[in-house]
Order: sequence, then C-alpha cells, then structure tokens
Amino acid sequence: MSKGKKQGALSVFRTVFPIVFHSAPGTYIALEIVSFLHALAFVGLPIFFQRLFSVAEHLVNGSATISNVIFAISLLALVNIFWQVINATENFIPIVYEEKTKGKLARDMQDKIARLSPLDFEDTGKLDDINKAEQGKNNAVDYVIRFSWIFSFYIPYFGLMGWYFATLKPILAVLILLIFTPSFLAYIARIQIFSKLEDKSAPLRRESEYYQACIVDREYFKETRLLGAYGYFEKLRQENIRLINDLSFKANLKSKLYEAGLKIITVLGYVGILLLLFYSVLDRSISVGAFASILATITYLFFLMDELASQIVGDLTKNWGTINNYINFLNLNERGGVEQKTDFSNGIEARNVSFTYPAKTTPALKNISFSIKPGETVAIVGENGSGKSTLIKLLTGIYLPSQGEVYFGGTNTGTITKSSLFANMSAIFQKFQQYKMTLEENIGISATGQRQDGGSLDGVCQLSGFSPGDPVFSNGYETVLSREFGGVDLSGGAWQRIAIARGLYRTHEMIVLDEPTAAIDPIEETRVYHQFAQISQGKIAVIVTHRLGSVRLADRIFVLKQGELVESGTHEELLNYGGEYARLYKSQEQWYMR
Ligand SMILES: Nc1ncnc2c1ncn2[C@@H]1O[C@H](COP(=O)(O)OP(=O)(O)O)[C@@H](O)[C@H]1O
Ligand SMILES: [Mg+2]
Repeated sequence: MSKGKKQGALSVFRTVFPIVFHSAPGTYIALEIVSFLHALAFVGLPIFFQRLFSVAEHLVNGSATISNVIFAISLLALVNIFWQVINATENFIPIVYEEKTKGKLARDMQDKIARLSPLDFEDTGKLDDINKAEQGKNNAVDYVIRFSWIFSFYIPYFGLMGWYFATLKPILAVLILLIFTPSFLAYIARIQIFSKLEDKSAPLRRESEYYQACIVDREYFKETRLLGAYGYFEKLRQENIRLINDLSFKANLKSKLYEAGLKIITVLGYVGILLLLFYSVLDRSISVGAFASILATITYLFFLMDELASQIVGDLTKNWGTINNYINFLNLNERGGVEQKTDFSNGIEARNVSFTYPAKTTPALKNISFSIKPGETVAIVGENGSGKSTLIKLLTGIYLPSQGEVYFGGTNTGTITKSSLFANMSAIFQKFQQYKMTLEENIGISATGQRQDGGSLDGVCQLSGFSPGDPVFSNGYETVLSREFGGVDLSGGAWQRIAIARGLYRTHEMIVLDEPTAAIDPIEETRVYHQFAQISQGKIAVIVTHRLGSVRLADRIFVLKQGELVESGTHEELLNYGGEYARLYKSQEQWYMR
C-alpha cells in the first residue's frame, strides 16, 4: 500500500465524501446550510452599509427623510444580529459533527481491520500504512468539512462579492480574480510539498515510536536497563526526531517561501484596487457610499482570501497525504469467502502447499502434501526455523497457501470466511497472549460468543496442571494477572498452563499446540504433551515441537527440514529409518535421561 496510488485533492474528496456524509447526513446538511447563510450575511453587511450611506447622503441633499434613515439602520442591525446568530451556530455544529462521524468511522475501521487477511499484519510496510490510515481517518472528517466550506461559504461569498463589485464597477470584479490566483498556486505547491513530507517521515516516525517502546514499555525496559541500552535507544530516537523535524522544517520553509512570493501578487492587487477606487470617486463613477462600503469590506475580503489560501487550503493539503493512506486502507483486499460450517469428519489435507512470507524471496514451506485422519494426533517436528509454525498457520487457515490448497473435510480453506474456519477449532500458539485481566477472563476469552462445551473452567484448569485454588491465585478465578492492575505477576510456566487451559476451554474438533512450552523444561514439556494427547482423544490434535522426547505418543510424526516435509511415520518407524528424525533424536537424548 505504501506504493499505492495517490489521488488528487478533488478525487480524494469524491472518495471520502460519501463515507463521511453517510455517517451523519442530517448534521452535514445543517452544517452546509449554516455556512451558506454565513456567506449571505457577510455579503449583506456591506450592501446594507452602502445603502445606509447612500440614504444619509440623500438626507443631506434633501431627497430622503429621517424615517428612510431609521429604516436603513434597522436593516443593517438585523443583518448584524442574523450574522451573530449564524456565527455562534457555525462554531458549534462542526464539533457535534466531528464527534458523530469520527465515532462511526472508527467503528467501521475496526470492522475492516477484522476482515483483513492476517497475512497483512506480517508486512511491516502494511502496518505502517494501517497506522497512517488511522490518522487519515480522523483527518478525512476535517478534510470533508473544510472542503465543503469552499463550496458552501468561500465560493458563494467571493462570487456574490464579485457580482456586487461588478454592479458598482465591472473592473473591480476582475481584480478579485487576480487576488484569487495566488491562493490556488499556493494550494498546488503545498500539495506537492506536504505529500512528499508525509512519505518521508512516516517510516521515521514508526522507528522512533519503536525506540520509545524499547525504553519505556514494561516488556522491554527491564532488559534495556540491565543491558545499559537506554542511552543507545534514546540516541537513536533523538536522531530520528531530529531527522523528522528537519524534514518538516524544510517543507514548511519551502511552502512559506512560495506563499511569500505569491503574497506579493496579492498585495499588488490590493494596491491596484485602492488606486482604482480612489480615481473612481474622483471622476464620480462610484458614489462615496460605495467607496466607503468597499473600503470597509476590502480588508475583510483579503483576510478571508488569506484564510482560504493559508489556513483552509493549507490544512487540506497537509492532511491530504494521510487521507490517501486511509483510502488505500479502505481498498485493501479483505479475506472473503462464504459462511459454512466446518466439518472435520473427513480429516484435513494439505495438497502441494508452498508458502512465502511477504517481502521474502525464499519460501518458508515447499510443496508439502499430507493428510490427517479424524481423531488422529499428529506431531510436527523439526529444528528452529524449519517451518513448523508457518505450517500451523496454514493448517488452521490463518494464512492461505501461496501455492496449493488446504482442505477441511472437502472444503478448500481459501473459499470460506475466517469465522467459519475458526468456528470449530482451537489453538495454543508459540507466542500466546498474557492478558492483563482476571484468571477467569484469561481462560474464558477463548469461548466468548461460542456455545461453550469444551468443559468446565475447573476441568480445563485441572487438565492443564493447575488449580485456581493454588496460593499464587490469591483471589481464585477473580485474581487479576498483572501487578500493573493491582494483581499478581505469574511465572512463564504458570502462564503456559493458563494458555493451554484457554485453548482447551474453546469448543473444538481440531486443536493445535505450537510449542507454547519454551519456559518449561523438557521433562515438564513431555508431561504436558502426554496429557494433551490424552485430552484430545477423538479430536484432531496437532502438536508442534523441536523437542522430540515429547512426541512419542503421536499417531504420526511429520519431520520438517528447511521448509520441506522430509519424513513421516511413527516414532519407531522414524528411528529405524535412521534419517533426520533419528539424528535429531540422538542429539537430544541426554535431555530425557534423568
Ligand atoms: N513473519 C515472518 N515474516 C517473514 N519470515 C518469517 C516470518 N515468520 C517466520 N519466518 C521465516 O520462515 C521460516 C520458518 O519459520 P517458522 O515457521 O517460524 O519456523 P519454526 O516454527 O519451525 O521455528 C524461517 O526462515 C523464518 O525466518
Ligand atoms: Mg515455531
């Protein structure tokens, strides 16, 4: 997506307008009507002012009465009051509008993220884009509001003022156009400058956020402090911030220089109008009333012109880059598929499966084929990096193969929705989550929105080798598992058991256990795996490990080596075969000799 297309400013508006509009149509229309009325009031003020002036002039030479003057004053006062009311409303409605739309867009964005392919989250470029899209989403609302103001306020205002000036003296209207030109030139320059800035600074920003995390996040900071790496990260972060500030300074300077140059044209236009007005009064081609009225409004006209060029257009173009990212995010492919109940009664099958991670050139898995029968317990073994976890992600349908297919029963995993895929499946991953919530939530979270029949909480705790009555859980199931939130901190081994309980608690016909056992010793792992194999009797169970002592019980063992399936069979068969498995087993034997 970082290489995604850039849309022009108008086309950005066309794309985000319907999305923003539909999130609060009534309020949007109110907003537009109010800003149009605001423009009318602004045009009304000088017109009624000029009127009052003319009536006063006529009063002096006897062609108007005092009641004419009072009437003109009342009209001017009314327009003024109208203007004040509109002004107050106009300050208030955008706040309401932003609140309504931003809430709605945030919900839509979460839904969209849930529908994305999980593979997208492996790609750091994409992650960057999702972060930028998050910003762009908020900016889209401001963008639409400001862009709409151009049509509902600035164009009607300048158009009507131009028309009013033309009725006084046609050449005045032409001068207005002359003042307009710089605004649009400034606009184009800004678009280019700030979209380049955004592209250059987003990766830097992400890096410095990461360094920041290395310094302050609880996960990192113990190690960072112990290693004395604080200064190192801080230096990297400072350097990044300096680069970002540098880029931003240069972009702003460039844009200000353009603006300054263009302002000279504006000032020339201003001087031109003043001269023209002066001579027009002298040769009596406009009245003194009109002269006074134009003089009174012209400063305001320039003020609004400046506001349009530097504030409104400036904000628009600054945000334009991030909104493009939001649009690209909205266009990201979603994992589609049909809703269908998964059926494992025919087992699962991998057919010529290959897989390459995004931005990698060598495949993590190469042409793998096998099938697993219903009720079978299978172990996938191999050295670190041989592709075990990747195979698990494909077997569970989290990722789809780059080539080949995975079938559940007879169904290709690529053809059904993620929620269908996962409905009847449970998994305990290598990098499982440690939720800073209660023990009960940490287990029960796997079965929310599911008809729970994986067993009772007590049951799954017992199977996983712990009890909520253990002293470490000072408050039973209600114990909060984080000191940060007033609870307790657990050991890695305890977390592992909870992760297993969580996996078991979910209703499943297939369950996967991917080495969530790094923090426990080989003997304990063997115990956990044996128990796991027993628990999953009658269900498809896939156990992943690089420690071979734990897998003897499996019905079948698949051996991976550098992404290829090199051997498969029972423990005895593979030992007798004398290949990779036998080699690995021999090298680990001493772990189990106690
Ligand atoms: N998210 C990822 N992005 C890119 N490459 C990855 C990613 N995860 C794993 N790999 C690579 O894929 C290969 C297999 O990794 P993995 O499946 O995690 O192996 P194992 O679980 O057997 O240790 C390794 O070369 C690893 O570097
Ligand atoms: Mg792994």
